[in-house]
Amino acid sequence: MDPAGSEQDPETKEQYASVYVGREEDVKRSERITAVVHDREVVIFYHKGEFHAMDIRCYHSGGPLHLGEIEEFDGRACIVCPWHKYKITLETGEGLYQSINPKDPSAEPMWCSKGIKQRIHTVTVDNGNIYVTLSKEPFKCDSDFYATGLFKVIPSSF
Ligand code: FES
Repeated sequence: MDPAGSEQDPETKEQYASVYVGREEDVKRSERITAVVHDREVVIFYHKGEFHAMDIRCYHSGGPLHLGEIEEFDGRACIVCPWHKYKITLETGEGLYQSINPKDPSAEPMWCSKGIKQRIHTVTVDNGNIYVTLSKEPFKCDSDFYATGLFKVIPSSF
């Protein structure tokens, strides 16, 4: 027993070990790749000099985010899901939407956040290689539902 909790279950440790997903130059050239990291499907984007990794299936209904376009909304880079056009920030996984005050119909629509909906993973670059480490955030994220089981788009054998 480790009262300080510093010893990790070997399975948990394995799950959060970083995984090589590709060469930096290749990801920069293609601007996006897909990968399977410990049996979880992720998409890695290269946008404006930064790498971003997130669950590949959209939190709304499982749309394929690796096929979406990247656009800026309210100054934030978002992947736009190709199925129903939901906007998800690359940096934080927040769902963005526009809202107006119904009591003031003349008001300009404002961009608002639904909070974090898509799980974001960590990308590291080491010696020209790209690694992804799965998120350890304990909160339940909507995209978790589509990250397991029947909804996988990439066979595990890849
Ligand atoms: Fe992505 Fe509906 S599945 S917006």
